[in-house]
Amino acid sequence: MYRKNILNIEPYRPGKPVKEVERELGIAGSYKLASNENLLGPSPRALLVIKKHLKNLNYYPDGSCYYLRNALSERLKINPDQIVLGNGSDELLQIIGLTFINPGDEAIISPEGFIRYPMIVNIMDGKNVFVNMKEHIYDLKAMLDHVNEKTKIIFIANPNNPTGTAVYKNEMDDFINKISDNVVVVLDEAYYEFTDKNKFPDSLQYLNNNKKVIVLRTFSKIYGLAGLRIGYALTTKKIAEYMNKVRCPFNVNSLAELGALSALDDDKYVAKTIKLINKEKKYLYSKIDKINIKYLPSETNFILINFGAKAAYIFNSLLQEGIIVRPMGMYNLPEWLRVTIGTHPMNQKFIEKLKVLL
Ligand SMILES: Cc1ncc(COP(=O)(O)O)c(C=O)c1O
Repeated sequence: MYRKNILNIEPYRPGKPVKEVERELGIAGSYKLASNENLLGPSPRALLVIKKHLKNLNYYPDGSCYYLRNALSERLKINPDQIVLGNGSDELLQIIGLTFINPGDEAIISPEGFIRYPMIVNIMDGKNVFVNMKEHIYDLKAMLDHVNEKTKIIFIANPNNPTGTAVYKNEMDDFINKISDNVVVVLDEAYYEFTDKNKFPDSLQYLNNNKKVIVLRTFSKIYGLAGLRIGYALTTKKIAEYMNKVRCPFNVNSLAELGALSALDDDKYVAKTIKLINKEKKYLYSKIDKINIKYLPSETNFILINFGAKAAYIFNSLLQEGIIVRPMGMYNLPEWLRVTIGTHPMNQKFIEKLKVLL
């Protein structure tokens, strides 16, 4: 009855709702540091416009996201026809799968890359070709070596979730220059705004050079709008045209479009978020260094920390104390926990509890 290739797909398993965890454990006031959300709360400008627009919910949204595409176009100096909006960048990944992957087509990914890539390839009945990272960073040379006539697509999260590591400009430039014109490269930049722009690739430049690249960005992280579900793809006109053919007509809801439009101009909130993350990252590094445990320096708003054989114990004990972090079993990294960088009181509580447990 069901399509053969979805029979063994492991569904994405989000954590339980915080309220439910609290109810089960008989605790209150817990901190969720598990999904790389912006823990300052949503962009205030977005909230304001969303409240105002509630009375218009009887109308369908603008299926072309005209205003948001134009605002992004102006800000990023890219043609509006090269922008596709999605119900989170997650939906854009699915649209990419629908646009490109025929049964048997190969996609090159990494076992430590974002978990949604292999899932989407499996849904489309494609074949995942796994290329290991080197020191938890994408090994682009090895990925190039795996390109063959069946390769359709390469998925790279830069910076990557869950490792928090990035591929820098020279290496990425070299890779994109060498890649065959028959292969589409997805550069998933969900955490782009947190990166050091002196070192980070200018991926829009690849589009200016007519490379078959799809850059994904999201309003879920820096703009604090994960619950609204909105992200965007920047790509060639031709690819955008095909992606638009397969997406649902009203895939972005009207509150999401308006909220994103306002958040885009919320420079104050973005600057505040970046300042907080940079400061708190330093704080967490210094404390973790003192405890003498290994972590991966991060280009994002989360840190991957190695607790060795104690990882499951630490995860469960933190949970009992009302601190929810993310175990990494699904990435086959059972010794590691991924911790979202929160506000100072959240990070402080995390460190205090950690010290006691260790
Ligand atoms: C690398 C990466 N890509 C995509 C997503 C999905 O983001 P969105 O909320 O825009 O669907 C995430 C979310 O955690 C992510 O880490």
